[in-house]
Amino acid sequence: ATTLGSAAAAKSRYFGTAVAAYKLGDATYAGILDREFTMVTAENEMKWDATEPTQNSFSYTSADTIVARARANGQRVRGHALAWHSQQPGWAQSLSGSALRSAMVNHITKVATHYRGQIYAWDVVNEAFADGSSGARRDSNLQQTGNDWIEVAFRTARAADPDAKLCYNDYNTDGVNAKSTAVYNMVKDFLARGVPIDCVGFQSHFNPASPLPADYQANLQRFADLGVEVQITELDIAGSGSAQADSYARVVRACLAVTRCAGITVWGIRDSDSWRASDTPLLFDGNGNPKAAYTSVLTAF
Ligand code: XIL
Repeated sequence: ATTLGSAAAAKSRYFGTAVAAYKLGDATYAGILDREFTMVTAENEMKWDATEPTQNSFSYTSADTIVARARANGQRVRGHALAWHSQQPGWAQSLSGSALRSAMVNHITKVATHYRGQIYAWDVVNEAFADGSSGARRDSNLQQTGNDWIEVAFRTARAADPDAKLCYNDYNTDGVNAKSTAVYNMVKDFLARGVPIDCVGFQSHFNPASPLPADYQANLQRFADLGVEVQITELDIAGSGSAQADSYARVVRACLAVTRCAGITVWGIRDSDSWRASDTPLLFDGNGNPKAAYTSVLTAF
């Protein structure tokens, strides 16, 4: 295969990227996007602050641009993210209790209904667990509305967009650790109680302080063994040269080894597009040329 998307497709996987609406007019960027990728995630445009800047007044222009363009190019779309403690509009940050809970439910209903039938998988809830060894929920305004906020979010999303896969998405859950085990136990509980959940997203933001875990594949497999799909949702790996290329290949091999691993999304196209550009964590350099990591990914498929 000669592109990331076709290499992944040969193994029944997708290969996606995060995109920013304001870059779509950049010919180099758009050229790589349409040549290489079969799945698209809006990097910021579907978040709560972007889609509902004023309570119950929705703003879909940028996200609609991304979705329409992807669909016109035969690319599928991951919806990111319906309920999250971060990137909330100011009005939501200042709500609490039942007012915030109702606002969350309304947000999920409206956004998921707007995109009903057009989204492959929603990140319904993002980053709801605490880092470290506690296995606890993250203390956030949403958590303070009651421990059942996550299952309410999933049930609300299912009602609004019944054919989309519904994912829980997080970081530092890539290996077997207290945080990923807490997520694992939640997923198991949801499945046992009939709370709708179809997939788990592993962000996979790797750097020297938080490297690709040795038990990455084993961790994906234990979630897959529960019966949910697993997806690598925001992959980027700090570094350069052969070390970076080898890590990218390991991620591809891990996904290929897990039957229920549906695909891989990288969190941007060129290093210069990255949210942490100084880490040069992506597959294309700032000029849009493929890096060693790119060739390594193609070969690993
Ligand atoms: C990041 C974007 O890449 C940045 O442009 C933005 O300023 C902050 O958010 N986890 C997530 C993503 O789920 O939404 C975040 O994206 C990166 C961490």
